[in-house]
Amino acid sequence: MIKKFLTIEFEEWENENTLPEADAILLNKAHEAAQKAYAPYSRFKVGAALLLENGEIIQGNNQENSSYPVGSCAERTALFYASARYPDIKIKAIAITADTHEPIPPCGMCRQAMLEYETKQQNCIPVIMGGKTGKIWKINSVSSLLPLQFDPHHLK
Ligand code: THU
Repeated sequence: MIKKFLTIEFEEWENENTLPEADAILLNKAHEAAQKAYAPYSRFKVGAALLLENGEIIQGNNQENSSYPVGSCAERTALFYASARYPDIKIKAIAITADTHEPIPPCGMCRQAMLEYETKQQNCIPVIMGGKTGKIWKINSVSSLLPLQFDPHHLK
């Protein structure tokens, strides 16, 4: 038996004002999207914004349902719309936020969903995680957020 260790590297920024401009813009678009979330049950509004290679920014937010598991997270709302609308256009970055005072990391299901597109496009997708105030985290790929991942090669 050998023990193996995995470490992840990510950036922590003090606040939005210290972020590179493109990341701050994307995070603001995620904030904007969060305001329009449909979250009557949890009252936890989440916003996501994807920057596409064509320069377009796709926004998404959580969409809840009275049958709770039917609802969708902000990230998947945005990802599925982007893939439906622009199936061959690569995603350059994803920003996620909520009205918190700490960064919002994507849930496990959304990490898996993001990984699918990162694998498909063969280019890393940086993930920027913020809140209403407080620090911001940035990680350079979805893959780093999901160690020991299940991906399409396992199906072969
Ligand atoms: N939520 C997201 O939209 N994204 C995440 O990554 C975490 C959770 C939503 C789902 C649900 O509508 C609410 O936040 C509370 O879990």
